[in-house]
Formats: sequence, C-alpha cells, structure tokens
Amino acid sequence: MNTLFIGRKIIELDTTPSTNSYANELLKEKDCVEGTIVFTQNQTQGRGQRNTYWQSEAMANLTFSLVLKPSFLSASQQFLLSKTMALGIADFVAEELKHTPTPDKISIKWPNDLYVGNKKIAGILIENTFRAEQWLYSVVGIGLNVNQLFDETSTLSATSLKKLGGEELSIKDCLSSLCKFIEIRYLHLKTLNTSKINEDYLNLLYKRNEWAMFKKSDESLLDGMITNVDSLGRLVVKTKAGILDTFDFKEIRFIES
Ligand code: BTN
Repeated sequence: MNTLFIGRKIIELDTTPSTNSYANELLKEKDCVEGTIVFTQNQTQGRGQRNTYWQSEAMANLTFSLVLKPSFLSASQQFLLSKTMALGIADFVAEELKHTPTPDKISIKWPNDLYVGNKKIAGILIENTFRAEQWLYSVVGIGLNVNQLFDETSTLSATSLKKLGGEELSIKDCLSSLCKFIEIRYLHLKTLNTSKINEDYLNLLYKRNEWAMFKKSDESLLDGMITNVDSLGRLVVKTKAGILDTFDFKEIRFIES
C-alpha cells in the first residue's frame, strides 16, 4: 500500500454481513489506528443510505470500511468529510477511465453517490461517532462496482469500471489506488483550506444548474434546479418561481427520468 496511513492496516474477512457494522462493533470494544480498513470480498447484508441494502456480487466489487478520526473538524462540519470522500472516489474513477474513448461524465449525485453518465458506480455510507461535541471516529463505508456486469434490462441503474472500460481489474489493486486518492483528499481536508474541496464538489454535482424533478417528503413534486449545497450539506433548489428552497437528506429525493 503506497500510502501514509490509509489502508496500512487491513482487516480482511472472508465474508461478513456488513463491513460498516463490523468496524463499528470493533471500535466499541477497542481503539483502531486511523486509516484501518475492514475489507471483504463477500459482503452479504451491505447497508446503504436511507435504510437501503447495498447488493454486491461476491468477489466482483470493492466493499470496505475505512476508519477515520477527523477530530480536527467540528460536528457542524460533517458534510465536509462526505464531500472529501466522494471527491477521492471521483478522482480514482477518473483515473481508471482516463483511456476510455468517449467517457461519460463522472459526477457526484447529492449527497455523495458517484455516477458515471446516469448510472451509479459507487455509494458511501458514513457513520460518525461523537462524545459530547468531540468527534471520536467515522466509519466510511464504500461500495464501488469494479467487475460486476450489470444487465442492461435490470431496473438497477448501476454500472461498473469493467462495464465502462472493458477490462477485468484486480480488486486489490483498485483498493490500493483508491486509498491513495482518498488519502490525498483527506490530507488536504486536514489543512482546513476547504475552498478547493467545496469548489470541486460543486463542479462535479450531478444535475447542478439543470431543471430536474424531485419528490418532497410530503410526496409532492418539485420542478427545480439545484444551485448549491450549503455548509450543512443541505440541497439548495431554485423553483420555477425563482425562490430558493433548502432541503435536508430526509426531505427530498430525485425522481429519475
Ligand atoms: C449507498 O449508496 O446507499 C451507500 C452504500 C454503501 C455500501 C458500502 S459497502 C461497504 C460498507 N458496508 C456496508 O454495509 N455499507 C458500506
């Protein structure tokens, strides 16, 4: 592993229900060095955001959890970590697809899904633990589709590096390279010079400045345009009437066209 601390210690499991659950349980019992990774090639009950499942074919994809200790951030800055992780993954995907003849655009679908074109290639589930105001640790769970060939007719709008680039990739090589890209972004975050992180995130934001349909938590539809994401990670949407409305994660979702 060609990194300073991310992935220098790897706990590899033949199979586990969820690497995030495993890492959280471990951290309740004993301390782990920052950068520790819990990795498996056979995750059987992967968890996603909004209480969803993360399904991943055994031996085909990356499913792992990274332990971080962002004690240099305050609780109100949690979304900065989310942005940083999404950017690290975006950098890795861009590197892997750099020789693809007509690459689709890599973007981050709010809050932190990684998309290529209109298909999802990776998801992130970050679970933070605080004591009072002190940020103790984060478990950053990453699922990235590497070699799984998703069926075109499947309702899942998912894609993978192999599907896009044509080549079968080594899962372990992908892990090493991804760790490197994440570490570069995380070290940048540590400097607290966050303007580049904010700028890069906004530049990659899926459907920013485009009209799109959303569903609000009261089930009503909203025809709006994403203009920004505020410092708390809330989506800022401009309505057709020109009003800016702010939504947290539970309050709005995209409707796929
Ligand atoms: C999402 O897109 O909703 C987030 C998916 C996160 C999946 C990863 S796979 C490794 C880690 N362990 C889990 O149970 N979930 C995350």
